[in-house]
Amino acid sequence: MKLYRRAPQWLHDDKLFLEEYVAKVPGWLFDYTAARTMDLLRWQEEQKKEGSLLEIGVFAGRYFSILARSALRTGSRIVGLDTFQFVSSRSFTSSICASSLSSTRTSSFWRAPPPP
Ligand SMILES: C[S@@+](CC[C@H](N)C(=O)[O-])C[C@H]1O[C@@H](n2cnc3c(N)ncnc32)[C@H](O)[C@@H]1O
Repeated sequence: MKLYRRAPQWLHDDKLFLEEYVAKVPGWLFDYTAARTMDLLRWQEEQKKEGSLLEIGVFAGRYFSILARSALRTGSRIVGLDTFQFVSSRSFTSSICASSLSSTRTSSFWRAPPPP
């Protein structure tokens, strides 16, 4: 997990995170869905309902970025899975790394075998 001397503002500011990061990642995610997911994750964090996170079908990481931000706040493990047929795993990781959301200790990305 990356340790910040001072928490970046986007770590706790949903609107800023949505505008500055999520909106720039290609993918399928409405702002409303993003906002409600952030609400749900915050509620889980407040209730101390922490655990590992998994997304199957991360594409370029748009939705994954929202899960990764919560994992960064809680120190939870997060796993992303995709066949990476439509976007390369390299562009996925560079997009996640660019936002400082990656954490070598708690994040991993797996390539699923393509469907037969
Ligand atoms: C609609 S996109 C997902 C959009 C993404 N969640 C986002 O935030 O933009 C569906 C993704 O599922 C992936 N996918 C399809 N079949 C899969 C499988 N069997 N295992 C893993 N990923 C798969 C595709 O490669 C594609 O990236």
